[in-house]
Amino acid sequence: MGLIYKLAQILEESRAEYLQSKAEIYSEVACFGHTQQDKRNLLAYGNNLQWMNYLKDHLGMEGNLQLIYVDPPFYSKADYFMSVKIESEKLEEDFKIKQTVYTDTWNKGIEDYLKMIAVRLFVMRDLLSDEGCVWIHLDWHVAHYVKLLMDEIFGENNFVNEIIWTYKSGGTSNRRFSRKHDTLLFYSKTDRYYFNPQKEKSYNRGFKPYRFKGVTEYEDEQGWYTMVNMKDVWQIDMVGRTSAERTGYATQKPELLLSRILESCTREGDLCADFFGGSGTLAAAASRMNRRWISCDIGLSSIANIQKRLLSNEMDFSFFIQDNECFENPDGEIEVKFQSCTDDMVASLELTLLHYQPSEKWLEALTPKDKTLIEAILKEDSMSLIEFWSVDTQYNGKVHQPQEIIFKTKGCLERKVVIHDTAGVIHIICVDVFGNRVAKTING
Ligand SMILES: C[S@@+](CC[C@H](N)C(=O)[O-])C[C@H]1O[C@@H](n2cnc3c(N)ncnc32)[C@H](O)[C@@H]1O
Repeated sequence: MGLIYKLAQILEESRAEYLQSKAEIYSEVACFGHTQQDKRNLLAYGNNLQWMNYLKDHLGMEGNLQLIYVDPPFYSKADYFMSVKIESEKLEEDFKIKQTVYTDTWNKGIEDYLKMIAVRLFVMRDLLSDEGCVWIHLDWHVAHYVKLLMDEIFGENNFVNEIIWTYKSGGTSNRRFSRKHDTLLFYSKTDRYYFNPQKEKSYNRGFKPYRFKGVTEYEDEQGWYTMVNMKDVWQIDMVGRTSAERTGYATQKPELLLSRILESCTREGDLCADFFGGSGTLAAAASRMNRRWISCDIGLSSIANIQKRLLSNEMDFSFFIQDNECFENPDGEIEVKFQSCTDDMVASLELTLLHYQPSEKWLEALTPKDKTLIEAILKEDSMSLIEFWSVDTQYNGKVHQPQEIIFKTKGCLERKVVIHDTAGVIHIICVDVFGNRVAKTING
């Protein structure tokens, strides 16, 4: 039976799953910055269905979100990797290890994939405000099926646009035309949705001035143009290899794409969400544009990428994990040393990182070749595996609120921090280049 005949059943099974789905309890485990609690941006590690239900049932966010943008796996039947670079002065050469960041392979096929999407679309609809919009980013693999599901879940009348995002990279073949676009389906929750029209340049024929009465014309290096309402085909370059915004995370989308969506569907202070966070592009763009954001991802490497991207740009957020989730590597180890010192005439403590050891379970899951390599690196210079570390000197036993966050820069990691308030409980977190996180608590 062709898939079209099964769509009604997929939709009904997804509706039933949505009605039965329950929120898992999440807890805040870290808080970065000083934003007021009710204005805080939120990042969660875990399955987005449970996180969305938690937002709805426990944080009272039903009907609160102005924009939801999601960029889920595309049903590409492929796995996505990241090349993790390990560099150290103590090592003769730099090493690269290939790490799977997420999979888009579906054992039970497209029906399972479409159910996964549809269940989540139902919850997204609940979270959206009456003025809100949802954008789902897909490509030729399933955009046509998902549009049918969206028509049912959000209503055909609430379809706003199908945006074609076209780019230069990838997609060539001698057997077909080059595949150079993604499809973004844009639906509103009601007909009272907020929309701020964008303008773009439209060049005059022959790039010459028309001089029509009442029409303002402009000139740039290409020639004469007018400003018109933006069309639904957007030409925006992919994130280039040397681009400053590049994180290295597979399938990272350009901030310009997200800024355009945010500009057209939100105002300053509005709440936006991306439940398939990846490298955190929506969160980064929203922070820059003074929008509040919520994000989530199920992958450790994604979470580490998002944290690094936002923290290195001094963006504030709270970080949540599921209560029953074993997030930190319990058998990983951080060795430290303390030394008394005086800083600005104040008696202080100098804390030095001595050694980092990831969990045995993680090491065992590596290929034999990678395991041997990592073990050799751990012996020579375990610090080269740390991407960033942070220290909270007044740990309350629940939420890590660091005064110091230290990132590796140009391959070098500062291993020392000076602690002034020496009476409190010290909590140290190390996040390694693979996204593993090891914590240590030291009672004052
Ligand atoms: C295409 S990527 C998103 C890329 C992102 N837009 C960016 O610019 O970096 C899809 C992401 O969805 C995440 N993901 C897949 N299934 C998920 C689920 N059930 N819950 C949360 N995240 C999920 C994957 O780990 C992956 O990082």
